[in-house]
Amino acid sequence: ADAPQTYDVVIIGGGPGGYNAAIRAGQLGLKVACVEMRSTLGGTCLNVGCMPSKALLHASELYEAAGKDFAGIGIEVKPKLNLPQMHKAKDDSVEALTKGIEFLFKKNKVDWLKGRGRIAGQGKVEVEAADGSKTTYDAKNIIIATGSEPTPLPGVAFEEGKVIDSTGALFLPKVPKHMIVIGAGVIGLELGSVWRRLGAEVTVVEYLDKVGAGMDAEVATAFQRGLAKQGMTFRMGTKVTGAKSVKDGVELTVEPAAGGAAETIKGDVVLVAIGRRPYTEGLGLETVGVTPDQRGFVGHDHFKTSAPGVWVIGDVTHGPMLAHKAEEDAVAAVELIAGKPGHVDYDLVPSVIYTTPEVAWVGKTEEQLKAAGVAYKKGKFPFAANSRAKINHESDGFVKVLADATTDKLLGVHIYGPQAGELISEASMTMAFGGSSEDIARTCHPHPTRSEAVRQAAMGVDGWTMQA
Ligand code: FAD
Ligand code: NAI
Repeated sequence: ADAPQTYDVVIIGGGPGGYNAAIRAGQLGLKVACVEMRSTLGGTCLNVGCMPSKALLHASELYEAAGKDFAGIGIEVKPKLNLPQMHKAKDDSVEALTKGIEFLFKKNKVDWLKGRGRIAGQGKVEVEAADGSKTTYDAKNIIIATGSEPTPLPGVAFEEGKVIDSTGALFLPKVPKHMIVIGAGVIGLELGSVWRRLGAEVTVVEYLDKVGAGMDAEVATAFQRGLAKQGMTFRMGTKVTGAKSVKDGVELTVEPAAGGAAETIKGDVVLVAIGRRPYTEGLGLETVGVTPDQRGFVGHDHFKTSAPGVWVIGDVTHGPMLAHKAEEDAVAAVELIAGKPGHVDYDLVPSVIYTTPEVAWVGKTEEQLKAAGVAYKKGKFPFAANSRAKINHESDGFVKVLADATTDKLLGVHIYGPQAGELISEASMTMAFGGSSEDIARTCHPHPTRSEAVRQAAMGVDGWTMQA
């Protein structure tokens, strides 16, 4: 009750954008509050995104390996799925993480204003608590960090337990017999993998001819082949035109994207994963004259919106919709508010898909370089020739390094293989320093590690790969 009513910064939204902004503001000595309407902090990422999905990916990977791979290395077990316990382990981890943010708020003197925030004119934020009471706070700066929500598919209405979004897919009480995933993007392939590993038949329906949204085409081809080998079925170049709820499931009407005969496919659960859209419902943007663009994103120039003192970060604004991007935005925006320099290079935001094996990339794809007319050199190295991957029976995949043909400057690194998400940071850091493929190639890497595959691919740019 004795919290200050005037803040240097009020942040609306307590996800990776909002909570990182709040903590950084606290560290810089700014008087800061974060408005979050959910009963826990951490936003989409901690509550219904990155973290619970990674918990299920980890557990389901071990379950499948125990049934399929353990015997081959001399461990004989008969795994039995205890799905309620798998969910509980996930929920416990999520709770610990969200509580961790609460602790960090206290430690950094961030006030959590519980309720729904609304901008109420310049320098004012109104917070409506769960009981309907409203309090208005003065804010020298307002940061919009309200994130995103699943994009619905017209004609395929959500229906609890049957036609679900990613949140529904994180809490399914039983393994579906046949799950149909609409959209072969990050969510569809991660959560489709979870339920396939746990025993569902999984069919992925994708409008385009390529999986993985914006990934490098050569990687996408290998990735899709790998997932198909694991048992996922793909209906590429296919559009969904309607859905009908039937007694024991859903009938989807599909037809070739290029036109052709329609047919129906039936599943007991349909996961709609066709992208996410910015969330600004009831935010009061009109009270400060801010208009989102056609797709609903709030635009910015160095995180400043068109309204004085109103800033925007994370999924609700442009750039990749990723937690670590939201975090970068957050720190840059708060440092700018505090009068320091702040900048984010979206070309250096890595992407990771946490399947088995993983896919990770940073920088440009070959297609992007070709379209931009950039002359590049390419080095490629297969994990089948990497001793650590081989010994661990994880030899699917490769590393591809793209460097400028004249200067050797590193332009892009694409990894499909074990621990790709961990391996990619070496490439990001080299690129952040403006480094070359030779910088990686001449750096001593420990043996035997998968990171040697990155080095060998970098050596391959100038044709001196040693291990293949
Ligand atoms: P959000 O995390 O969406 O947070 C916004 C918060 O604002 C929410 O808690 C919301 O309740 C609150 N809010 C909104 N409006 C108001 C209001 N008016 N008043 C008060 N509170 C409000 N990204 C990765 O980088 N790695 C991953 O592995 C990954 N996995 C994902 C898996 C799934 C299934 C999903 C759905 C997403 C995943 N993402 C992942 C994306 C990641 O979750 C988002 O990019 C990230 O959460 C964006 O952070 P944000 O702070 O911008 O928004
Ligand atoms: P996405 O953009 O990754 O993929 C959507 C896919 O659906 C695309 O392949 C698209 O072509 C396809 N599609 C669109 N409309 C369609 C239609 N009508 N019919 C069939 N296919 C259609 O979006 P997704 O998977 O929903 O994820 C949303 C976002 O969440 C991601 O872009 C990412 O930013 C974030 N995320 C990140 C993760 C990570 O970093 N590992 C994990 C999960 C989500």
